[in-house]
Amino acid sequence: MPSLVRFGVSLEKELLCQFDGLLKNTKYTNRSQAIRDLIRTELVKEEWQENKEITGAVTLVYNHHKRELVNRLMDIQHDYHDNILSTQHLHLDGDNCLEVIAIKGKAKQTKELYDRLRSVKGVKYAGFAQASTGSRLT
Ligand code: NI
Repeated sequence: MPSLVRFGVSLEKELLCQFDGLLKNTKYTNRSQAIRDLIRTELVKEEWQENKEITGAVTLVYNHHKRELVNRLMDIQHDYHDNILSTQHLHLDGDNCLEVIAIKGKAKQTKELYDRLRSVKGVKYAGFAQASTGSRLT
């Protein structure tokens, strides 16, 4: 288990009140836990900025009746097969599909994959949850 270090933080009273207000709306039970997660979020952002090995999930919503769109999405995924861990396809209704694509690789390349997928004409929604492999986080 990593050793814990205590340190003091000075900040404006109003800012602390706002922070505590944020905590009330979440499930955090104490400030330390919330600060720890904020630091980790920043470390993950840095991993992405520095083009480290990362993971993430792309979500797409589209109408599967548009065959050219479906083929295009498939072609792009084949171009990046080294970065794709799995693809889950869910039929939302008679027309719409949700695709969740788990990815891994260098940040820059996975962003490129996401940009190519989301820019395909006819994609109704695209989202990208940028995560970490966890290997550089405590
Ligand atoms: Ni479908």
